[in-house]
Amino acid sequence: MLAETIFFCGLTTTSYFSCILSASYNNFGVNIAMAILKVLHFPDTRLRDKALPVYKIDSKVKEIAKNMLDVMYAENGIGLAATQVNIRQRIIVIDLSEEKNEPLILINPKITKLVGNQTMREGCLSVPDYYDIIERAEYIEYCYKTLDDEVINSNTDGLLAVCIQHEIDHLDGKLFIDYLSLLKRQRLKKKINKQEKLQQSIL
Ligand code: NI
Repeated sequence: MLAETIFFCGLTTTSYFSCILSASYNNFGVNIAMAILKVLHFPDTRLRDKALPVYKIDSKVKEIAKNMLDVMYAENGIGLAATQVNIRQRIIVIDLSEEKNEPLILINPKITKLVGNQTMREGCLSVPDYYDIIERAEYIEYCYKTLDDEVINSNTDGLLAVCIQHEIDHLDGKLFIDYLSLLKRQRLKKKINKQEKLQQSIL
């Protein structure tokens, strides 16, 4: 039913990476560029790191979440996990609205129940230009903390359920292509190696 082209983490054909400068202040009150958030691409091994729980929701965590939303919108994605921008904290951001004005920020998200299954065509900002059909649970129950330190218990199905499963996988060092057959993964690796060689020869 929902086997249309759906870009979970967005399509990024135009840029090598997204570069967001976050202005901040050091102890001397000097405005400095604190963080450059760059989306890591497969097969970068840092995408395999497991993210740690956020213990305190402070201004730094809020700034990370804001910057992640900026990156996600800049790359036309609908979801982004902190692991993808090389931050090992359990933070994900999602926005499924057409107007891109309904951001959802999930701190320490956890799925508590998985029911049924559904298939959708997935993509990922960390695996540019590759899409494939993946099977995941149809309905999930999940909990998370908001930036206001409030615990939310919720449930959902369809696209949001798939998106949350995809992003939490990132926090555990897992990519959607891990669900593919060995043959498909080998083909994808060959394609990426070819592209890298081509880029090197152009440079
Ligand atoms: Ni992704």
